[in-house]
Order: sequence, then C-alpha cells, then structure tokens
Amino acid sequence: MSELCIALLMVVLCYNGSFSENLDEQLGMLFNRSDLRCPKECETQDFLNKMRFEDSMECCTCAAESLWVVEGKQNGTKVEHFDVLFVKNYIELKVKDHDVNFYNLIYTYGNITDIPSSVCNFSTIVYIDLSFNEIKDIRNIACLSILDTLLLAGNKIQSLIADVFHGMKYLRRVDVSFNQITKLEPTFFLYMEGSMFHFDLSYNNMSEIDVTNMVRLRQKYFCVVNFSHNVLNEITNPSNFLFQREQDFGHGGYLDFTYNNFSHFFNFEKIGFHDLQLFGKMQFYSFDFQHNNWICDCKFYPFVSQATLSSYILHASHVNFKCNRPPQFKNKIIKNFRNDPDLLICNISMSARCPHKCHCFYQPSRNQTVVNCRAKLSSKRFPLVLPEYQRTWL
Ligand SMILES: *[C@@H]1O[C@H](CO)[C@@H](O)[C@H](O)[C@H]1NC(C)=O
Ligand SMILES: *[C@@H]1O[C@H](CO)[C@@H](O)[C@H](O)[C@H]1NC(C)=O
Ligand SMILES: *[C@@H]1O[C@H](CO)[C@@H](O)[C@H](O)[C@H]1NC(C)=O
Ligand SMILES: *[C@@H]1O[C@H](CO)[C@@H](O)[C@H](O)[C@H]1NC(C)=O
Ligand SMILES: *[C@@H]1O[C@H](CO)[C@@H](O)[C@H](O)[C@H]1NC(C)=O
Ligand SMILES: *[C@@H]1O[C@H](CO)[C@@H](O)[C@H](O)[C@H]1NC(C)=O
Ligand SMILES: *[C@@H]1O[C@H](CO)[C@@H](O)[C@H](O)[C@H]1NC(C)=O
Ligand SMILES: *[C@@H]1O[C@H](CO)[C@@H](O)[C@H](O)[C@H]1NC(C)=O
Ligand SMILES: *[C@@H]1O[C@H](CO)[C@@H](O)[C@H](O)[C@H]1NC(C)=O
Repeated sequence: MSELCIALLMVVLCYNGSFSENLDEQLGMLFNRSDLRCPKECETQDFLNKMRFEDSMECCTCAAESLWVVEGKQNGTKVEHFDVLFVKNYIELKVKDHDVNFYNLIYTYGNITDIPSSVCNFSTIVYIDLSFNEIKDIRNIACLSILDTLLLAGNKIQSLIADVFHGMKYLRRVDVSFNQITKLEPTFFLYMEGSMFHFDLSYNNMSEIDVTNMVRLRQKYFCVVNFSHNVLNEITNPSNFLFQREQDFGHGGYLDFTYNNFSHFFNFEKIGFHDLQLFGKMQFYSFDFQHNNWICDCKFYPFVSQATLSSYILHASHVNFKCNRPPQFKNKIIKNFRNDPDLLICNISMSARCPHKCHCFYQPSRNQTVVNCRAKLSSKRFPLVLPEYQRTWL
C-alpha cells in the first residue's frame, strides 16, 4: 500500500495535464479513492450531449483513467510485466526488476486453467489480461486488493460469485465476455460496492436475469454492464424483491440488453414494482432492449398507456425498441402504439375457451374481451361465457 501512496503523492504534486481537479475530487468522494483522473472534457455540456452522458460524473465513470496509467505515460511510475513460466503444474511469475510500483500480468491465448495462486505474492498487481485461456474458476484473484482491470474474455467461466469482488474496491473493469456463464448470483450487482464501472458479460449463455442485478444500491454510478448477445428472455424475482420509496438506486448507468431473446413485455408487479411511480427512481438508468424478439401484444399496453411510467422510461435515449412479432407489426416502434393502443391485443385460443370458429382477443385499451364469430355461429346459441382475462393476462 505504501508504494501506492507514494505514487499518488507524486502525481498530485507534479501532474498538470488535461484533467479536471474539481471532478477528480467529486469522484474521489463518491468512491472513496483519490487515484482516478477525470478528463476535463467531462465538464463541458457539449461533450456530455455528444456522448449521451447524463451528467459529468457518469462521464467520469466511463472515461476516468487510473493514476498508474496517467503516470506510466509520463514515466513517473514504473509498471512492469511478468514473465510467465510454466513449472510442472505450477505457474511461476518472474519479475525482472524489483524496483517497480505496479505489475501487469498478461498471458493470452494460452492453456492456463486457473488464475495462478502465485499472483497473491504480488499485492500490487493492477492489471490482468488472461483472455482466451481455459480458466474456469477465478476465486484466486480475491487477494488482489488494488486490482484495477481484469480481462478474462474467452475462458470457461460458468458462474460468478459476488464474494470474490467484494474486497476489491479499486476494480473498475471486468471483461468476462465469451465465457459460458448461464446465471449470475442474485444481488450480484445490487450490493456491488467499490468502483465497478465496466462489466462485460456479452456473448455468454444467460437465459434469465434476476431483477436485483439490474439496479444497484451501494454504488452511485457506473458506466456499462453489457449483457448483449446472450439468450435472456426473462427477468426473475424469486426472492420477491420490492422497489421501495426510501431506497436510493443512485444514478445508475447503461445496461446493454441488445441481441437477447426477450419477447413478452415485463410484468412489473412480478419484478417488484407495486407502485409504478417508483420507476422514477431509475430515471437516470439506461436500459437498452433493442434487437430482441418483442411480441407486440396486450402485455405492452401498460407500457404505452400509463403517462407516468412511459414518460419516465421513454425519455431515455435507448428505448426505441421495435416489434418483431406479430408479422403485421414487424419493426414498428413500440412507443408509436401510444396513438393506436387498440392494436395491442392478445389472441385467445380455443383451448382457453374461445368458441370454435371464432376469433377472440383481449383488448386492454377498452378493457374488454372481444369474441368475433362473424356469421358463422347462430347468435342465439352464442356462448357468452367469457374468460376473465383482465387479471390473468396483465
Ligand atoms: C474509505 O477508505 C478507507 C481506506 O482507504 C477506509 O478506511 C474507510 O473506511 C473508507 N470509508 C468508507 C466510507 O468506505
Ligand atoms: C520515459 O520514457 C521514454 C520512452 O519510453 C524513455 O526513452 C525515457 O528514458 C523515459 N524517461 C525516464 C525518466 O524514465
Ligand atoms: C501449456 O502451455 C505451455 C507453454 O506453451 C506448456 O509448457 C505447458 O506444458 C502447457 N500445459 C498444458 C497442461 O498443456
Ligand atoms: C509465492 O507464494 C507461494 C504460496 O502461494 C509460495 O509457495 C512461494 O514460495 C511464493 N513465491 C515467491 C517468489 O514469493
Ligand atoms: C448454454 O446453456 C445450455 C443449457 O442452459 C446448454 O445446453 C448449452 O450447451 C450452452 N451453450 C454453450 C455455448 O455453452
Ligand atoms: C456490448 O458488447 C457488444 C459486443 O461486444 C458491443 O458490440 C457493444 O458495443 C457493447 N455495448 C456497450 C454499451 O459498450
Ligand atoms: C428464445 O425464446 C423462445 C421463447 O420466447 C424460446 O422458445 C427459444 O428457445 C429461445 N431461444 C433461445 C436461443 O434460447
Ligand atoms: C391475433 O390473431 C390475428 C388473426 O389470426 C393475427 O393476425 C394477429 O397477428 C394475432 N395477434 C397477435 C398479437 O398474436
Ligand atoms: C375494467 O374492468 C374491470 C372489471 O371487469 C373494472 O374493475 C375496471 O375498473 C375496469 N377498468 C377500466 C379502466 O375501465
């Protein structure tokens, strides 16, 4: 730790580059660390607009640089790589020069199956790139308390446990894309602490996500969590998490859910919104659900009809998602149904008690179930037993 402090002091005293002292200070207070440098651009509204940042701090979480990087560029701090040697089943990390402040461990496209336990001998490792190896288990990294970047794309990781990351308050970037992750532990992100700004889970095999992994309670800002190119089709809530008035979800960040398999619009009550007004608490989050398999049926009605809810979510810049089905609505932008809410219907099948040769559908905009039998049935014998869809479909 003392090495880190010396490095910090040196840079504070001698650096006069294009970083914003004011923002650095705010960043420092928000995340309880003083080693991040936020570019001056994040102060200007033009840049924020151009990059679609909600505010300066969001810009900082996406664009800040670590001191050791800033310093490395002006040769103040020494950052060195290891030589990675294979000794039977054990991987030895050899250092050439002991007089360095921080270490990088880089070994890509190899056959490493575990994070070498010898990393724990070097407490000042800040950067690990072991992309495209055969790593299944990452518990060994928990000892690296000042690790900043962990790149593990293209390995064989199947699950992630929050415990591994809880002591790592300097960890800002994790890339576990192209792995075999099928599930994230619930509350993995809800209780994430520290400075986890970038988390890449794209190209994994996740089919569901717990609602407690879509918002955060302990970290005021983040940049991106990338879930794109999975097979997500459901938001789950087995523990009945409830969004409550007194909870503070902070300013959030950008959650990329593009190229997944979501089809039915969410049942907000099931995922913990008993009061839709509480959606206002997520107003600075961006949930990008474009390029999914959306079915534009009656389930979308609450989304396009309720002024409060839709104005909260629709104002965000990334929600212009489009219908994929039914065919007559393919590529129609969902928010345009606001002018035609009658079109959002759910067909009712015969097995759900729609009479033979009739077309039945539930139409929430009119609060009605329509049974259209044209002239095929005699109206006198028309069975008027209409199923109660109002409650069951929405
Ligand atoms: C801030 O970090 C210091 C150590 O760097 C720690 O002692 C302190 O408890 C932290 N404060 C908070 C509020 O987390
Ligand atoms: C700074 O880095 C440059 C290029 O990497 C090198 O030539 C120079 O000797 C370094 N200066 C110091 C003081 O380390
Ligand atoms: C992994 O690769 C290294 C270097 O190519 C080699 O020395 C080692 O034997 C390999 N280990 C296994 C288990 O294949
Ligand atoms: C690194 O730690 C291992 C135990 O994890 C120990 O056996 C080994 O001697 C240490 N190596 C060095 C170079 O300190
Ligand atoms: C994805 O998960 C399913 C089961 O959940 C499994 O059958 C399939 O092999 C997995 N695919 C990959 C590429 O890991
Ligand atoms: C998420 O990952 C995909 C695939 O790597 C990439 O194309 C996309 O730009 C990423 N999204 C964000 C917001 O960085
Ligand atoms: C996508 O979701 C549909 C149900 O909506 C399911 O039948 C299909 O298997 C899913 N596709 C994948 C790749 O999981
Ligand atoms: C309902 O059924 C009609 C007639 O079969 C069809 O054109 C329409 O696409 C269906 N709508 C939905 C949402 O499935
Ligand atoms: C819809 O119908 C149900 C009973 O069938 C009724 O309780 C509810 O108030 C109606 N809603 C509207 C908006 O008319």
